[in-house]
Amino acid sequence: MDLKYGKPHSLMGWADANRARLKPPVCNAAVFPDGDYIINMVGGPNTRTDFHDNPTEEIFYQIRGNCYLNVWDRGKFDRIDIREGEIFLMPAHLIHSPQRPEAGSLCLLIEKPRPLGHVDWLRWYCPKCAALTWEASKQLESLVEDLPKIYALFYATSEAERRCKTCGTVHPGKDYAAWHALRRASA
Ligand SMILES: [Fe+2]
Repeated sequence: MDLKYGKPHSLMGWADANRARLKPPVCNAAVFPDGDYIINMVGGPNTRTDFHDNPTEEIFYQIRGNCYLNVWDRGKFDRIDIREGEIFLMPAHLIHSPQRPEAGSLCLLIEKPRPLGHVDWLRWYCPKCAALTWEASKQLESLVEDLPKIYALFYATSEAERRCKTCGTVHPGKDYAAWHALRRASA
């Protein structure tokens, strides 16, 4: 028998052995890096201010702890809670920002390889008025390697580039706590 990806094994055992790899910004690691499916374990806590527009669906299975998705929908912020034990099939193009405040939380995240010509977008929005601050797209080849490169581009922007053209608020860049505090103050 040629089991290309090995025998069945303990998922939680894998998570324990790979805990150190679940680091910011995305806190993810591939369970089967060579397979056709993109199967990632995502840990907490994370510190993200980016929103993701995926041209394909995502499956969230929240194994341990709770998480929520900040959602940007037609100019307004919304929120979807995914509690421990829950599974969520996210439709393509739902503009989402996964928030994982709990240390030790674990989520199995399953995605599809992106068809050629279907790009992912990362977007950052004004915490006060939800206007678009900055965005970049990429034909995604590696979830683990491609996204941090886009974060680095955004984090290198100046205050002038991050000033909202609608309300003048400066997006705090990678300062996750500051973005969420401004967001809460405006909600
Ligand atoms: Fe604004």
